Amino acid sequence: MTYTDALIPVPVGPLQVGAAADSSAPLIQFSLIVPTYNESKNVAKIVKQLTELLDDCLPGDYELILVDDNSPDKTWQIAQALTPHYPQLRVMRRETERGLSSAVIRGWQVARGNILGVIDADLQHPPEILIQLLKQIQNGADLAVASRHVEGGGVSEWSFIRRFLSRGAQVLGLLIVPNVVGRVSDPMSGYFMVHRSAIAGPCLNPMGYKILLEVIGRGRVETIGEVGYVFQEREEGESKVTWQHYLTYLGHLVRLRSRGRIARLRRQFPVGRFLRFGIVGLSGVFVDMAVLYLLSDPSTLGWGLTRSKIVAAEIAILNNFLWNDAWTFADIAQAQKGWNARIKRFLKFNTICLAGLVLNVLLLNFLFNVVFGQQHRYLANLIAIAVVTLWNFWVNFKLSWRVTQIKK
Ligand code: GDD
Ligand code: MN
Repeated sequence: MTYTDALIPVPVGPLQVGAAADSSAPLIQFSLIVPTYNESKNVAKIVKQLTELLDDCLPGDYELILVDDNSPDKTWQIAQALTPHYPQLRVMRRETERGLSSAVIRGWQVARGNILGVIDADLQHPPEILIQLLKQIQNGADLAVASRHVEGGGVSEWSFIRRFLSRGAQVLGLLIVPNVVGRVSDPMSGYFMVHRSAIAGPCLNPMGYKILLEVIGRGRVETIGEVGYVFQEREEGESKVTWQHYLTYLGHLVRLRSRGRIARLRRQFPVGRFLRFGIVGLSGVFVDMAVLYLLSDPSTLGWGLTRSKIVAAEIAILNNFLWNDAWTFADIAQAQKGWNARIKRFLKFNTICLAGLVLNVLLLNFLFNVVFGQQHRYLANLIAIAVVTLWNFWVNFKLSWRVTQIKK
């Protein structure tokens, strides 16, 4: 007899949990995801234990969703063969995607419950803790986490190295994303449950093992409850954690920290415009140099240095304005036609550039005298120029070539 056609189809597209459970299916209270990879020796046992527990406290109001990544030991097949005896059990077999975090999210995507949970299949998470976690949620917590680091919690026979690595990972997390990792005592826990409403909406990141970080980092989790538990030793099968997972973990922390900020910045900062502005600025340097030579060199006009420099700078500013108006900000300039508007833009540009010059001198002095202790004058100048270029660009973009959208 084959049960293959009763497998849950694997959702495709973004890893996003829907706001309301599928309307065609009756809403239930609780969906528990059991991610598996080569857990053939544990499935029957974990399914039996979970069912006994939940039949008692949530009869007919829960489901178990086993998400298997096409395990070579055919865990999915063994689980599927159990379904006639366990009507609450549903099985998903993923053949392309892989990884613990995305397995859990795919499970939540097909879940019909209002409370979404996850538990390991290898019996290292004691099932009876589920009842206390459920109670926390029913008492108003958005998230309830089984923790090794609160009263009643712990690990069984971990070596010094393993404890050290586990704590080290936590400290690292605290340094990089304190507002996520610092909210729970055991951020590495893979045993927790959460209100659907707290995680529905945002796109979740499938990276790595630590799905709880994702839930806290991107969800709308206000109140958190914790329940102590002792991490049991594995009796059957083996752990899937490799060194690579530690690297992925680091990457995950960094991504959580930036949370799309880098991508957003790149979208908001007009890179092309800034490059054109830089090229125009460079042309201004040559104009400035050439005029300075023509006016002040003894072999040419031989004016005084200050007088020559003021004229040279002013001509360079005019040069830059013309190019920026015709090229860097051409699209905006075209929308503000006429000589009046043009002269206005020039006066603003001129003022901002002069302010930039003052800023340049102040910054150079500050860096050279205060920050670097009267050393590295060229480095100080380079930094000052970079900062002033950014200032000139941004303020001119926002003031001189401002796009005003007046609603008519
Ligand atoms: N679908 C799927 N895909 N399941 C996976 C995958 C995968 O790529 N990798 C692991 N699993 C399943 C395992 O079959 C098991 O049920 C569970 O995820 C945890 O994997 P283990 O390899 O047993 O992890 P562990 O014992 O080292 O880590 C556990 O303890 C951590 C606390 O330190 C897990 O519970 C972690 O989630 C938890 O953070
Ligand atoms: Mn395990």
